[in-house]
Amino acid sequence: MVRLKPAVFTGTMTANTHGKILVLGGTGKTGSRVVRRLEARGLPVRVGSRSAEPPFDWEDQSTWAPALRDVTSVYVAYYPDLASPGASPTIRSFTQAAVDSGVRRMVLLAGRGEEEAEACEQHVRDSGVEWTILRAAWFAQNFGESFLVEPVLAGEVALPVGDVGEPFVDAEDIADVAVAALTEDGHAGQLYELTGPRSLTFADAIGEIATATGRPIRFVPVSVDEYAAALTQHGVPPEYIQLLTYLFTTVLDGRNTHVVNDVERVLGRPARDVSAYVRAAAEAGIWAAE
Ligand SMILES: NC(=O)c1ccc[n+]([C@@H]2O[C@H](COP(=O)([O-])OP(=O)(O)OC[C@H]3O[C@@H](n4cnc5c(N)ncnc54)[C@H](OP(=O)(O)O)[C@@H]3O)[C@@H](O)[C@H]2O)c1
Repeated sequence: MVRLKPAVFTGTMTANTHGKILVLGGTGKTGSRVVRRLEARGLPVRVGSRSAEPPFDWEDQSTWAPALRDVTSVYVAYYPDLASPGASPTIRSFTQAAVDSGVRRMVLLAGRGEEEAEACEQHVRDSGVEWTILRAAWFAQNFGESFLVEPVLAGEVALPVGDVGEPFVDAEDIADVAVAALTEDGHAGQLYELTGPRSLTFADAIGEIATATGRPIRFVPVSVDEYAAALTQHGVPPEYIQLLTYLFTTVLDGRNTHVVNDVERVLGRPARDVSAYVRAAAEAGIWAAE
């Protein structure tokens, strides 16, 4: 296996020396962390999201050119998910627009073991830009900054998943790798699988949150139909329900249980364990009772 130099910032930034770095999903779980790191280095960053100025909307192609103006590198965190219907043609069109606009480097965030996401990856690989693909495991932050917050706070997390192990990855690690790929040489043409250092079940992860917060939180395995019915009752849009049930059934079947050490290979330090995330999030009061 090729051993990369640790991603210590060296000041060599070939792709973005002359342009801005556009961070799509720049207010989200990974994008906001990427933006913070780039800004801390004094690099020219543009947030790409519907609430940014200029606004960027995946569903409105007229917003793409203004967001891409003067941009030479792009971090792509697609919303809602590269596995959702319509993602592949949208990524193909966006990648073409980016190339036409002068973008020379793209870092694409994808999931692991998702055929649909791989079709999106291929558009970026075929585009002629310097590409880096980040195939990430389930984010630890899904428990604290996403759709699992509410059930965790309610003390009962019912999911259609059994004893399958998942090597939850910390979004901080994803952001560190993304920034390395955006700012350093040596990452073009690389596909990195970003996982945490060990696999654990959802029940185990919930157990760790219960311990760290000192609150009773039950994990309840349910059938896919029960899960979909509960989401419908909560007013979740059908396309989002479809996406979640797909992720829990098709993708969480054990294909992604294995740990890959690409975080350490790129950053020169071990990936952060989900326990460290849970402890820090609990201390920060993310799951504090209202
Ligand atoms: N969660 C996981 O466990 C996991 C695992 C592997 C891979 N992934 C991949 O991660 C990606 C999502 O990244 P993330 O979790 O960092 O993002 P996220 O937290 O889901 O953030 C959503 C971001 O997208 C923006 N957004 C929402 N709708 C938009 C639209 N129509 N047009 C443009 N921007 C829009 C939001 O800002 P505004 O509201 O201001 O527009 C926000 O910045 C997905 O493609 C998924 O495949 C996720």
